Amino acid sequence: MTAPPALTALHATPLDLGGRTALVTGAAGGIGRACTLRLAAAGAKVRAVDRDGAGLEALAESSRDLPGTVEPHVLDLTDLDAAELAATGTDVLVNNAGLQLVRPIEEFPPDVFHTVLTVMLEAPFRLIRGALPHMYGQGWGRVVNVSSVHGLRASAYKSAYVAAKHGLEGLSKTTALEGAAHGVTSNCVSPGYVRTPLVEKQIADQARAHGIPEERVLSEVLLQDTAVKRLIEPEDVAEAVAYLCGPRASFVTGTSLVLDGGWTAH
Ligand SMILES: NC(=O)c1ccc[n+]([C@@H]2O[C@H](COP(=O)([O-])OP(=O)(O)OC[C@H]3O[C@@H](n4cnc5c(N)ncnc54)[C@H](O)[C@@H]3O)[C@@H](O)[C@H]2O)c1
Repeated sequence: MTAPPALTALHATPLDLGGRTALVTGAAGGIGRACTLRLAAAGAKVRAVDRDGAGLEALAESSRDLPGTVEPHVLDLTDLDAAELAATGTDVLVNNAGLQLVRPIEEFPPDVFHTVLTVMLEAPFRLIRGALPHMYGQGWGRVVNVSSVHGLRASAYKSAYVAAKHGLEGLSKTTALEGAAHGVTSNCVSPGYVRTPLVEKQIADQARAHGIPEERVLSEVLLQDTAVKRLIEPEDVAEAVAYLCGPRASFVTGTSLVLDGGWTAH
């Protein structure tokens, strides 16, 4: 039996970002790369921002056969004026770039704390600030902030990261309240541990901070509070981002889409 036409159309509505421009930060890396490819697969013209020029070139190469386009834009997001300018005229903004240092507070270098807050909180503010006038002008825009379960829960030895992500969740909610009257939604996507270089790089630091061998870090530290005992893939996170940009998500704003394998169910 075939479904009535109206129902078929409702359930088959694909994500179509043809004619839309998107900006993704941290696009050369794991989640940002997956988000860029997902949005380009939906037809968007994606401005791919990262400080890693070689990574961006590889990404552009991988995107060749997709319906949309990927434009590499090499930029260090600590240059806040340049970040704000780069966001001008974009319809979809994905604030994703991030970095991590695992260290007790009394040993945490203040300059690294400052850099983490700059890249992961102040740059998103400046990018949103740069993007909103165009979004407001056309009455449509999507801001997606790649936060973390660490935007909702703390872990020891991650003071800068947890502070930045909690701040990002607040910035996202404020953006939602201000943007609602202009057709702009703002949400966080908040994953648990994702299989990316950012996680691989922190294994040694975690082992040192917790005083355990590296091979025990995954099960005893990273996945300790997670009911589903595995890492999540970058493509799963990108699909959540795509949903928030899609035609059925216009009422979803000021919230966090949590992909944490049950971590926050505790
Ligand atoms: N991997 C995880 O387990 C996980 C979990 C939750 C949230 N997140 C978040 O997802 C986002 C992406 O993380 P990922 O795991 O893909 O990391 P990643 O290290 O693979 O990618 C991060 C990207 O950000 C870029 N970047 C860092 N500093 C920059 C700067 N100053 N200017 C421009 N680009 C810069 C890097 O070059 C890199 O390409 C981050 O915000 C991270 O906090 C990751």
